[in-house]
Amino acid sequence: MNRRDAIKLTAAAALLTALSATAEEEVFKNREEMKPENPAKLQESELKHTPQITIGKKDAKGYTPVSITVGQGGIIHPSTPEHWIDFVELYADKKRVGKSELEAEISRGAVTFAVKLDQVKTLTAKAGCNLHGIWTSTLAL
Ligand SMILES: [Fe+2]
Repeated sequence: MNRRDAIKLTAAAALLTALSATAEEEVFKNREEMKPENPAKLQESELKHTPQITIGKKDAKGYTPVSITVGQGGIIHPSTPEHWIDFVELYADKKRVGKSELEAEISRGAVTFAVKLDQVKTLTAKAGCNLHGIWTSTLAL
């Protein structure tokens, strides 16, 4: 392969990557941000979709496990080919910690991030249901 072909190939690969990323963003972008009717008293469908944030014990390197599970009050969101949690995101204050994209059936809405929480005041988790929008919960530290 000569240099010109290598440049063309690199450009084509970059274009494909950009298009692929754009298609994935489109899947998540057009979802409605959901809010419970009464945050103090969640209904069953709201309990099923609201992420629960659990903080573990800080490790020797200063990272604290922050687990997000989708579903509260003993109600776990389903994970079937037709209906599942397809992503979970975590924010420390306004900074995104990470995003996990999840596959139906083989996984469910449960993710753990290791986070430096020293200066963090709030954690916000977002969970995307393929049918029922994006659900958010916030935990003040
Ligand atoms: Fe759902």
